[in-house]
Amino acid sequence: MTKPRILLIVGGGIAAYKSIELVRLLRKSGMTVRCVITRAGEQFVTPLTLAALSENKVYTNLFDLKDEVEMGHIQLSREADLVVVAPATADLLAKMAAGIADDLATTLLLATDKPVLAAPAMNVRMWLHPATQRNVATLRGDGVTVLDPDEGEMACGEYGPGRLPEPAAIFAAIESRLSNPLASSAVEAPPLPSRVSTSLDTNGSLDHQPDFAPENHRPLFGRRILITAGPTHEPIDPVRYIANRSSGKQGFAIAAAAAEAGAEVLLIAGPVPLPTPPGVIRVDVETAVEMAEEVRQGLPVDAAIMVAAVADWRAADTSAQKIKKDGSGAVPPLALAENPDILAGVARSPDRPPLLIGFAAETNDVIAHAEAKLAKKGCDWIVANDVAADPMGGESNRVHIVSKNGIDSWDRLPKAAVARKLMEKIADELDARSPRHSD
Ligand code: CTP
Repeated sequence: MTKPRILLIVGGGIAAYKSIELVRLLRKSGMTVRCVITRAGEQFVTPLTLAALSENKVYTNLFDLKDEVEMGHIQLSREADLVVVAPATADLLAKMAAGIADDLATTLLLATDKPVLAAPAMNVRMWLHPATQRNVATLRGDGVTVLDPDEGEMACGEYGPGRLPEPAAIFAAIESRLSNPLASSAVEAPPLPSRVSTSLDTNGSLDHQPDFAPENHRPLFGRRILITAGPTHEPIDPVRYIANRSSGKQGFAIAAAAAEAGAEVLLIAGPVPLPTPPGVIRVDVETAVEMAEEVRQGLPVDAAIMVAAVADWRAADTSAQKIKKDGSGAVPPLALAENPDILAGVARSPDRPPLLIGFAAETNDVIAHAEAKLAKKGCDWIVANDVAADPMGGESNRVHIVSKNGIDSWDRLPKAAVARKLMEKIADELDARSPRHSD
């Protein structure tokens, strides 16, 4: 797995010197860092210092045509996994909230399609001003992670909230944001266009920029991927249902990672209270029968990943009214009917995707059960999930990818990391099987 890439925007202010320590921490952890420094930031930190520590070129000027040839600003804003603004001044936050793009930093922030984390630093009155608080609320509503500033004595002599959080705290927030893409106030984003529009290039400054080729940065660009996630609920009567403990977290993390990798993602979700990852088209269902129908309608796709913990049985008869106790102590009979096996059904259908992946949560004989399931379901891979030590709903998974070519066992990883690694493997597999769509 490649280490995360950070685009660090260093704003102005006395706290800018702390960004130097932040770069050091990021590099020490193995992350790649590219720095952009605002004109105000240059008053406090030199580009040379940031270049030496990040071991990368530092960008300062939107109109540096040489850079536009080497790397356009649209590309610069998108090749990162996370954009970090530290320190985020009142001015930068205001421009971000209003969508103003009048220099390189703000243009990148407006053009990026990656998550953004901002660490504010400013005078206490500026932080508490209703305008700043309104801007922070707007940004949080837009899905930007805005850290709370530290409280304490400020360089200007006043006391209160407004100090830049310590570099170690910003670093911890970055790690947590990267390992848990669903943790932020993620908002629903419109589906990705099938081609990145060039309408962004209307300010005349990109005349000499080579065409931005999304497929170079997004290994699943042009692919359609269907994912099922979560449990299903099988009603017994209007108030009762049969369910299981699936949290949906792994399936949603996979949908998020697939969208980040450029795929067009259809997520068919059982009842779970998780936000829709940006760029994902979500269809909510309740029962296995509904899920089977939505999957059927979602085909054809390039790959289907069946992560849902589909209930094996439903109530044979559902009561239109709540079933009442009759006082005799007699227990009502609960007859069950078998649900359709969605994965096996897709495997047999004429629309079978070129790559069909099932999940299997097992508590014992994980590999043997996964191998048996691979044959029984007729899919290409089974992602076998060892849930003996960590039952459903946890934050990490230890998985084995079982296919006819053998077993690929991964260490225990956060669910977001499992998702990203799986996307890399899927992209490689699809590229080996067929070239990408060009539409
Ligand atoms: N699956 C499905 N439809 C079902 C049951 C399971 O699509 N009715 C899919 C799951 O989404 C998963 C895979 O099949 O990708 C394996 O699910 P699992 O519940 O482990 O399989 P079962 O056949 O139900 O096996 P078990 O007897 O272990 O429950």
